[in-house]
Amino acid sequence: MKRSFDAAARGARRPPEDVGGTVVEVGTNPAYEVSVGPGVLADVAGFVGGAGARVAVLADARVAELHAHRLAGLERAPRLDVPPGEGSKSLARLGAVLDFLAEAELDRSSCLVTLGGGVPGDLGGLAASLFKRGIAVVHAPTTLLAMVDASVGGKTAINLAAGKNLAGTFHQPRAVFADTETLATLPEDELRSGFGEVVKAALVEGEPLLALVEESAGALVARDPDALERVVAACVRAKARVVADDPHERGPRRALNLGHTFAHGIERTAGYGAVPHGVAVAAGIGLALAAARALGILADDTLADRTGRLLEALGLPRDLTALRASSGLALPAADVARAMGHDKKGRVGAPELVLPARAGAIELGVPVEPAMLTRLLA
Ligand code: GLY
Repeated sequence: MKRSFDAAARGARRPPEDVGGTVVEVGTNPAYEVSVGPGVLADVAGFVGGAGARVAVLADARVAELHAHRLAGLERAPRLDVPPGEGSKSLARLGAVLDFLAEAELDRSSCLVTLGGGVPGDLGGLAASLFKRGIAVVHAPTTLLAMVDASVGGKTAINLAAGKNLAGTFHQPRAVFADTETLATLPEDELRSGFGEVVKAALVEGEPLLALVEESAGALVARDPDALERVVAACVRAKARVVADDPHERGPRRALNLGHTFAHGIERTAGYGAVPHGVAVAAGIGLALAAARALGILADDTLADRTGRLLEALGLPRDLTALRASSGLALPAADVARAMGHDKKGRVGAPELVLPARAGAIELGVPVEPAMLTRLLA
């Protein structure tokens, strides 16, 4: 079924200039807040420690070495560190996390804090949703990708042999603390990967977020702290609005999958981890724009070029050809097309695309013929 998402029709838009600071409310039921800014990890203990509730921490091992000390007041909380990388989002690791929560004697009034990128967030969120039929989780994302996307909206997941994120739940966090100081130590390729989700957020939201990201591109690449805080806060505000409208992804939230069906095909073909997720999303956005043009959906014919320039300014591939060149991977069209048929967001074997008509207006569930798909991926 084809539906559309129009950001302009979804409530008054506050200009990013008003964001400064910043606490963003996510209006789900119950609602929660996302705090964005330097030093906000120091506030986590105060938030979770109320009424003597037990607290445990699940951290990415590399991030824990660099940043666990910022969780002031939680030094004595039981902590489990997991190896960095998608490999930790496994059924075996989920079992280990559940055992850890039991050994830490958490109960229904307890809270799990996750520290790191999407891996501890997705894994810890899933464990929290299962343990004793659900305990609270608070996310402390330390990657740009997790700050602008994965930590907000309650998606949890592990990977299965058949594909990425194939087992998961919706479990909204009680709060999110995005400490932008942690971005100073983020490896270059992970920062770039986060930019892929920033561009996606800007295309889904439309103006003025798209213009803000364009104006800020140089400063973002240079890791200017003010630019990072401003753009993270604006992206979170945009995502919060979509998630509050459609927490379980029954309709408009699917706009946030822009570029992702292509990206999942690319990641699966390359072998998970070979192309960072947000880099695959960047190429996927370029492909989505090409598909929208080929199918007569693209109403703004400046958008493909504008987006391509923005992706390049952020050090990202503007399409699959650029990704093949920068990664040295062949990524054969037939293999990517076949892998896209396994995307969990469409019916098996029949990918449905999320395509932009213009910035802020996204078409959902657009079917694509195999021959057209192969041409796009050539
Ligand atoms: N990452 C897309 C979403 O949260 O819906």
